Amino acid sequence: PRPILLTRHGESRDNVRARIGGDSALSDTGALYAKKLADFVEKRLKSERAASVQWRALDEINAGACDGMTYLEIKKNMPEEYESREKDKLRYRYPRGESYLDVIQRLEPVIIELERQRAPVVVISHQAVLRALYAYFADRPLKEIPHIEVPLHTIIEIQMGVTGVQEKRYKLMD
Ligand code: G3H
Repeated sequence: PRPILLTRHGESRDNVRARIGGDSALSDTGALYAKKLADFVEKRLKSERAASVQWRALDEINAGACDGMTYLEIKKNMPEEYESREKDKLRYRYPRGESYLDVIQRLEPVIIELERQRAPVVVISHQAVLRALYAYFADRPLKEIPHIEVPLHTIIEIQMGVTGVQEKRYKLMD
């Protein structure tokens, strides 16, 4: 069966400033990763036909009123919100935004589409979304999802076989 390769986008300027959400440009390091990732994919999938699509369903968790803030700013300015999220990160929904459960739900059609593919698929997305996709394919429990570490600049290759799931990680840079 075909592998699924999951990776976060290269480091963004907001990642560097520890701001959530936003739609900032890539940092220099992030731009370098984008190049390395393109090379990796080209080599890894050289004999495969590839198609590229962009799906809104792969957008990062919508932080609503907190979009563009740092965690410290949320803690200072919206302490109740900060605390509710600490208590139940899976169910906590940002004001005018989403919860992890919302994200998991909007990913359902994506998962159906990924499972339908005959060729390898590379999914380039964001941390919260990749946590949910990874948990689905690697068979991790729901409650773990908001806490799974999906490091930057790393490709997680998941291969589903008859004997279970196999995973390889490629760290392309620090
Ligand atoms: O900007 C959003 C983050 O990638 C998600 O991280 O859910 O741990 O705050 P978090």
